[in-house]
Amino acid sequence: MCGIVGYVGPQQAQDVVIEGLRRLEYRGYDSAGVALVVAAETGGSVVTAKKAGKLANLEKVLADDPLPASTTGIGHTRWATHGPPTDVNAHPHHGNAHRVALVHNGIIENFADLRARLEADDHVLVSETDSEVVAHLVELQVQSGESLTVAMQRVCQRLEGAFTLVAIDAEDPDRVVAARRNSPLVVGVGEGEYFLGSDVAAFISHTREAIELGQDQVITISRTGVDITDFHGHPAEGRRFHVDWDLSAAEKDGHDWFMRKEIFEQPRAVADSLLGRRTRDGLLQLDEMRLSDEEIRDVSKMIIIACGTSFFAGMVAKYAIEHWTRIPVEVELASEFRYRDPILDHSTLVVAISQSGETADTLQAIRHARTQRSKVLAICNTNGSTIPRESDAVIYTHAGPEIGVASTKGFLTQLIACYLLALYVAQVKGTRFDDEINEVMAQLEAMPDHIESVLGDCEQVYELAREHLDTRSVLFLGRHAGFPVALEGALKLKELAYLHAEGFAAGELKHGPIALIEEGLPVLCIVPPRGRDQLHEKMISGIQEVRARGARTICLAEAGDTRIEPYADVLIRLPKVPTLLQPLVAIVPLQLFACELASALGHDVDQPRNLAKSVTVE
Ligand code: F6R
Repeated sequence: MCGIVGYVGPQQAQDVVIEGLRRLEYRGYDSAGVALVVAAETGGSVVTAKKAGKLANLEKVLADDPLPASTTGIGHTRWATHGPPTDVNAHPHHGNAHRVALVHNGIIENFADLRARLEADDHVLVSETDSEVVAHLVELQVQSGESLTVAMQRVCQRLEGAFTLVAIDAEDPDRVVAARRNSPLVVGVGEGEYFLGSDVAAFISHTREAIELGQDQVITISRTGVDITDFHGHPAEGRRFHVDWDLSAAEKDGHDWFMRKEIFEQPRAVADSLLGRRTRDGLLQLDEMRLSDEEIRDVSKMIIIACGTSFFAGMVAKYAIEHWTRIPVEVELASEFRYRDPILDHSTLVVAISQSGETADTLQAIRHARTQRSKVLAICNTNGSTIPRESDAVIYTHAGPEIGVASTKGFLTQLIACYLLALYVAQVKGTRFDDEINEVMAQLEAMPDHIESVLGDCEQVYELAREHLDTRSVLFLGRHAGFPVALEGALKLKELAYLHAEGFAAGELKHGPIALIEEGLPVLCIVPPRGRDQLHEKMISGIQEVRARGARTICLAEAGDTRIEPYADVLIRLPKVPTLLQPLVAIVPLQLFACELASALGHDVDQPRNLAKSVTVE
């Protein structure tokens, strides 16, 4: 989950690379580094600067001690796997002769063996990383007379694991060579200049024309074009695409944090995710779906696999899918899925939810499902990423880039995609009448306005957050579709404010966790709308139980719900929406609460400690 950048063209490579790294810093911020090829006339060498900590540390080093001018360069921002975040372990790494510089994202699984062989041949490896080994191997190849491209191909054939690699050679100043297996890499196509990046944010200020690379490919960029091969040198092709968002989408737009900006973008993100989903005669259509009606009719079970916030979206989806389609749904953490030998066959539809499309646990789970002949449908926000590419079908969420490490608009748009999937399957299988589907679609289409109205009340939530600066523990309670919202609210608080926070199903409290309740403990309660079975009344009983034991109850309840008033120490009003859709509005105050509390505590909201945006290691 490191960020990788490469550049060849007329501009100063250091500037382009540092700008790219700034936009990719959300992928990892343990250290950063840059390497440039200084052309033969001035000596023909590779120069490098790298520094532990955030990119700002590297920028300071470069300001104090600038690198020579160069128009070919690579850069890296690291999320540490092998070896702690130190200057020495920072990328780029070099071979013994300092001729090749290389950056790497992923894990080389056979690095220990390769390292032992290099050391037996008197190579001195200075870092604890798996990546440095690859720099040595590539350098050995170019020293033997191979071009950097062939060197990369040969070395990739020997590597096991997941990797994106980008390298430069001091004696070949006009090209940058990269390779990928199970790890992201996209190419930016400019006028007489080419870019490499872990995602398009790295070069979006220069070009919106891009190429997505396939699995096990090597790419060479120069001023005159790109050349793509497989690991054996056979010609290969990438897929050209146009990036449909621009630079302003990747900037903060006047907000203090990307996360806050992304929370406020949610009405638009939800609206965009609903766009174009209906034909003229009102039927649902999912363009990228790629599953035939017959395949959908054959589905007898669904298994949703995901991690973190995406997993909680999957938990909400279970309620909607089972209710509207009558198909049984299991929801499973991707990291656990394949280790329990799940029962899968051709009639099981596996739904993989991933904002980034690169989460290694989810990727491995879908690969396992496909070996068992199950169809895989991805719900994903990132065009060109690995998970949709390796799935049979995809629903894109159209949230735009999510830069804040904590997922917000990613979650809401995943919920929208799950509702659309459920309704589409209901339409194909005929488990809901068209007018019922139209009614839910109309309710979904009203959601952007409802979310806007919740955002309009943000000051009440901010004030509440600032009252909790000394709080060490917060509980969240929910029932039914509100239970995953409680879990997601707690996750946001843990990851941003570093507080003990736990979400519970309200009915489960009396079976143990109620012992946690003590005088003044804040308990955030997501109160279900009235009218669905006994849910509302049962929730009120749970709230009374914790309040009787001293908890301070902060209740999120729909407009007009007066029954809750006597039991709420603080009442946050939500718009009146159906029970199944309530997560779309109920999560928003919890996101605002976590963002504001973390900010008031002085934490880095966009880059919380120990985390990275896209987790490409298992
Ligand atoms: C929490 C968060 C993570 C991700 C998880 C899965 O705010 O962002 O829990 O949801 O790492 O990531 P994706 O959805 O990219 O697979």
